[in-house]
Amino acid sequence: MQRAFNTFEIPQDVRPEQIDVQENGVRVQWSDASHDSFYPWDFIETYIQSDRRTPEPRRIEYFGSNGSGNSTSWPPSVSSKDLEDNETRTVAQLTDFIKRFGLVFVTGVPFETGEATKKLLEKIAFIRQTHYGGFYDFIPDLAMADTAYTNLALGAHTDTTYFTDPAGLQAFHLLSHADPTAKDGEGTLGGKSLLVDGFYAASLLRKESPRAYKILTTHKLSWHASGNEGITITPDTSYPVLESKSNGQGLRRVRWNNDDRGVVPFTERSPMEWYEAAREWHSILTRKDLEYWVQLTPGNLLIFDNWRVLHGRSAFTGVRRMCGGYINRDDFVSRWRNTNFPREEILKRVVG
Ligand SMILES: [Fe+2]
Repeated sequence: MQRAFNTFEIPQDVRPEQIDVQENGVRVQWSDASHDSFYPWDFIETYIQSDRRTPEPRRIEYFGSNGSGNSTSWPPSVSSKDLEDNETRTVAQLTDFIKRFGLVFVTGVPFETGEATKKLLEKIAFIRQTHYGGFYDFIPDLAMADTAYTNLALGAHTDTTYFTDPAGLQAFHLLSHADPTAKDGEGTLGGKSLLVDGFYAASLLRKESPRAYKILTTHKLSWHASGNEGITITPDTSYPVLESKSNGQGLRRVRWNNDDRGVVPFTERSPMEWYEAAREWHSILTRKDLEYWVQLTPGNLLIFDNWRVLHGRSAFTGVRRMCGGYINRDDFVSRWRNTNFPREEILKRVVG
């Protein structure tokens, strides 16, 4: 203990001078007389019972191609008007939908410009800056060296696997889509959005192939973003595709993007075993009954959990204007806590 104090340079000469046990807690007077501390009984009780924080409630409902089977709340959505009229209550519902289903739609969002979308996202938390910028509003032109800036079909993936802390939330709002060269009635323009519940897919993998699940949760590999001049981003250490919670209670995060993946290393296992497991994972992700397809339309904003839900799209023709942004995971969860639970309860979870 003495050494720990030295390490953090806590003054050696400050000690409890007097400890008063009171009806509602314990008061401590410190020897330097700089201040008193008061510890309520429920605070002390929490520490005596356990040195771990109260776990966050976890109520997850998986979804597949037809939405979430057990829920009458599908597709989870709130309206832009409700957000204006009663921000706290509606943000509480919106963030809770994301925690529960992994996604939410916001209806009735103005789409003449991206401005209303940006303001709406900022009601959850500030928009994350990355090397691509912050809030984006673009027409695909390959301005950035990234497949998102094309009109190609994209398989289900998660974004920003190359960050130590990948983006928590991701938002898409299709502001317009037109093909000036198409003749009337010439079919659809394409560009449907694909969403796959990664936690559901992982639960199936665990059940059907425990060995593949074990490999994908333990075999760590590198991830990187190196496509833009002067930018080479990679996480602080290597990470597995499926990250488990430290208490062993389920899955924490999915990283899956073939375009960002580094070399699969030799460990006690051969990379061949990893590829075999990855093939099984891919075959589950691409099952028709797991693929939820939705046509985004102007006015209908989609926000989803990038740590859980994989996204993709079909190819499209014409000119599509899309806006959106990322929000950090911690800031999203903080907003969810603070709009859904009383402060007393929150402090027990975050302090201990
Ligand atoms: Fe993406």
